[in-house]
Amino acid sequence: MNQTIKFWAVVPAAGVGKRMNADRPKQYLELAGLTVIEHTLSRLLQANVFSAVAVAISAEDPYWTELDIGKHELIITAPGGKERADSVLSGLKAIREQAKDDDWVLVHDAARPCLTTGDIRLLIDTLVNDEVGGILALSSHDTLKNVQDKYILGTLDRRTIWRALTPQMFRYGLLKSALEEAEGNPAITDEASALELMGLKPKIVEGRPDNIKITQPEDLALAQFYMEQQ
Ligand code: CTP
Ligand code: MG
Repeated sequence: MNQTIKFWAVVPAAGVGKRMNADRPKQYLELAGLTVIEHTLSRLLQANVFSAVAVAISAEDPYWTELDIGKHELIITAPGGKERADSVLSGLKAIREQAKDDDWVLVHDAARPCLTTGDIRLLIDTLVNDEVGGILALSSHDTLKNVQDKYILGTLDRRTIWRALTPQMFRYGLLKSALEEAEGNPAITDEASALELMGLKPKIVEGRPDNIKITQPEDLALAQFYMEQQ
């Protein structure tokens, strides 16, 4: 491995958490004594691999400056964007002076607080010599249906279907140009899809099923349970 290659983390945290239906964005809800985003950022910092962690925060967010972790020397605050991809691009721009094109960037949702150091290491160890990069993902246990207007049109081949998680790990230069090229495209819901659009093939690394994204109210209790098990 090239010793001069660095690792950076970018954390999109500028969403409003509509599906959570709470009094504040879900990243600021309490989970096991801390806010969701404090868990997420602590876990990234604990892995001890990142030169810095760029966090994209909405201009209307009154909660972020209340948290001590925002003042950590490795945390950089960047402006949030309209869509998740815009927030990620903003995080990348916040480290443009320090990051080199060949450095690796791990993009991780603020809303995934159960990430383990083991999964971060697995992703890095699997992909560090890869040209393109890849993502943590989960295979699907359920039989999957293609549905229109509540009628089943067919059954998907489960062996070829994976659920995309984060972190997603790509080279700084490639990821930034892929996201810039795809700007405004609603089909870009994760980093991998921006690279797929360029004709590239990101790799799948099987992650842990407890790396859930807090999305609906019941997910908080589930995340708490997983943390106790870890
Ligand atoms: N995100 C972001 N900027 C946006 C939208 C989302 O940084 N404009 C972040 C969220 O804060 C979250 C991650 O992207 O950490 C994943 O998005 P999602 O789970 O969809 O969060 P929200 O958009 O906040 O939730 P919802 O879609 O229910 O409104
Ligand atoms: Mg969203």
